[in-house]
Amino acid sequence: MRQGVRHASRLEGVVVPPGDKSISHRAALLNTIADGSAHVSNFCVGDDRSAMLQCLRGLGGQLRRHESCSVSGADECFEVTGLGIDGLQEPGDVLDAGNSGTTMRLVSGLLASQPFFSVISGDGSLRNRPMARILNPLRMMGATVSGRQNGSLAPLVFQGGELTGIEYEMPVASAQLKSSILIAGLAAAGATTAVQPSASRDHTERMMAAMGANISVNELRVTVQASRLKSMDVNIPCDTSGASFWLVAACAHPNASIRVNGVGINPTRTGVLTVLERMGANIRIENVREDAGEPSADLIAETSDLRGVEISGDIIPAVIDELPVLALAASVASGDTVIRDAAELRVKESDRIKATVEGLNRLGARVEETDDGMTIHGGSALSGAEVRSRGDHRIAMTMAVAGLVATGETAIEQAEAADVSYPGFWETLAALQ
Ligand code: S3P
Repeated sequence: MRQGVRHASRLEGVVVPPGDKSISHRAALLNTIADGSAHVSNFCVGDDRSAMLQCLRGLGGQLRRHESCSVSGADECFEVTGLGIDGLQEPGDVLDAGNSGTTMRLVSGLLASQPFFSVISGDGSLRNRPMARILNPLRMMGATVSGRQNGSLAPLVFQGGELTGIEYEMPVASAQLKSSILIAGLAAAGATTAVQPSASRDHTERMMAAMGANISVNELRVTVQASRLKSMDVNIPCDTSGASFWLVAACAHPNASIRVNGVGINPTRTGVLTVLERMGANIRIENVREDAGEPSADLIAETSDLRGVEISGDIIPAVIDELPVLALAASVASGDTVIRDAAELRVKESDRIKATVEGLNRLGARVEETDDGMTIHGGSALSGAEVRSRGDHRIAMTMAVAGLVATGETAIEQAEAADVSYPGFWETLAALQ
């Protein structure tokens, strides 16, 4: 699908993004292996969530969808009947994680300890994303697993294993890697410790603790012991990453005011707010609340006088998914912005360094690619052009926001990629104009 976006003379409105994808995935997976049953509301929508549900159902998971359980009718709810940590069944077919790295890496942590044969695969993008990072520690724990190219790429084949806890120094600050190890650790003998090089999103730790796991966090070290989980109702906050498109749209546009309601503000996710604040963004935070261990708030963003900043070091994992849209903000800010230490962007759904640099430059920005990030020379007046999403949802949505700010019309190829995490994105974009 080719989607046109025209320059908006004014952006105004109230947005409620879908439920948070990371928290939804954990709520579905952990409740499936818990004892009891749970109600999960404001579940994320989109292709990635379908991938997680399909994999869990392939393992016998019982996740039943209700049409809606909210007053507005906008959200989605599931009743999850837990199978217990030992209740999964051998899947009759290959588990399909689609485009979702979180699904493949978290479900692999589960498959590692199961006494049965299983295969997990995904689409062309996912089959080329690095999996050795999870298979190495899972093997050290005792899992029998193989994959293409010497165990570095999916499809991944698991033959079960009796797991024993390990202490593992993670080579990358990845929440997917950490979560895979911790999920395997729930069924391993002894203690399993993941030592992070810097903090990544901590939804798994929070949810496991709230569900009664024997888990402790000591700065960058997370230790879990073999545990049974108790089912837990979760009301999922709206997606921080989905919200970031509207925050940047409002701040980068010369005539805008957008309110984004119910957004997750877990500090391991709000790097986007920290960076925008340092750039001089006009964002207010209202109605802070907490549900099932996760904080949320309403965010009001308005036209801002943005300036360039350096984005590097420990903040990178907290802002990793928002770097493409922040690069757009930087291209209209005054001064230069330098993004460093973000080589992980190259192994996301697309090479997001290349995709961002190419797209923004086509719109008239001045962005230079570096090995682990990019340098953005600010102050560009963007003008509409044809841009590619490369089938990557976050690139499609970044280019759409750029199209609102640019003069004329921007055409985005493979715009349907937005459905991976944000069905309804294009309707919301139209409603704000
Ligand atoms: C996610 C973690 C991040 C992020 C991804 C979702 C998660 O990946 O980019 O969109 O839900 O754990 P890494 O942890 O591999 O960096």
